[in-house]
Amino acid sequence: EKGTYPHYMLKEIDEQPLVMRKIIQKYQNDRGDLTIDQEIVDAMNDADRIYIIAAGTSYHAGLVGKQFIEKMAKVPVEVHISSEFGYNMPLLSEKPLFIFISQSGETADSRGVLVNVKEMGHKALTITNVQGSTLSREADYTLLLYAGPEIAVASTKAYTAQIAVLSILAEVTAKSRGIDLDFNLVQELGIVANAMEVLCDAKEEFEEISRKFLSTTRNAFFIGRGIDFYVGLEGALKLKEISYIQAEGFAGGELKHGTIALIENGTPVIALATQESVNLSIRGNVKEVVARGANPCIISMKGLETEEDSFIIPEVNGLLTPLISVIPLQLISYYAALHRECDVDKPRNLAKSVTVE
Ligand code: M6R
Repeated sequence: EKGTYPHYMLKEIDEQPLVMRKIIQKYQNDRGDLTIDQEIVDAMNDADRIYIIAAGTSYHAGLVGKQFIEKMAKVPVEVHISSEFGYNMPLLSEKPLFIFISQSGETADSRGVLVNVKEMGHKALTITNVQGSTLSREADYTLLLYAGPEIAVASTKAYTAQIAVLSILAEVTAKSRGIDLDFNLVQELGIVANAMEVLCDAKEEFEEISRKFLSTTRNAFFIGRGIDFYVGLEGALKLKEISYIQAEGFAGGELKHGTIALIENGTPVIALATQESVNLSIRGNVKEVVARGANPCIISMKGLETEEDSFIIPEVNGLLTPLISVIPLQLISYYAALHRECDVDKPRNLAKSVTVE
């Protein structure tokens, strides 16, 4: 039930702090440590390479998950779009573990890959919001998202839940391998939940930003570097899906290799600047597009901000920024769709779960 909310999407965006806290609680043991089933930890440790398979928003969560697993647990990870995996199957390593990420657990393209790799005798873990879903039943192991039903076609709370669960999977695997992390994930996710609340309380500002940058435009670009690039991809998907504004997310460094040709007077460029290591470079990209007339909307993180920024998100652990930098993008897209009188919860031509290939 959406209660007093005008749309499920807005309700689900607002639920994100709560979902974070629920995930922390569900994955904590009596001593307060994060924990997952031992057989899943064993499967992670038996693998010499992990293959993440997913579609759409879940694929974008997988890109972030790769960073977690490689940086924390030091296991190599590849991320693949499920519909492409069949044609472009990479040479598999000797002991692969497949991780399927799917909110619904019913995505036909992902299921196609799962059936295939099971036939080949490989192990599979499904990360899903729906207990008992097809992908969960057919895989060897399941991790649940505990996000509650997601009704809006545009995925929001499932994306952040997927990223949180992937961070826990990476942390627990790292610990089991004797790798010391220089932060406490429970604490860091708690900080994230609080930061999410701050962002959910800033709706009026995001409505204003959306009006300022997106009210009449036909297209929009999202740029970022490193982990911000992946969030930009998700921001572009959200925007095009519900507001029908043609949107593209790409790596800041790629600008000069083509896309900058599209920048005209007034073209909105939404730039994410949450990573200290690439802050100068992404701001350099902003200067390049501004010189061509772009209308820049910079979303930065506290500590890295400058006066030209449109919004500054609260500071969180540098690896976990996608959990909060995505919220401005979700809200900006929501208001863009609203201002254009689009059907926010049921965008044209789309289904909540894509059960045909
Ligand atoms: O249920 P799944 O996570 O497998 O769905 C994958 C995509 O169809 C889904 O994320 C889609 O891209 C969303 N509508 C994006 O908001």
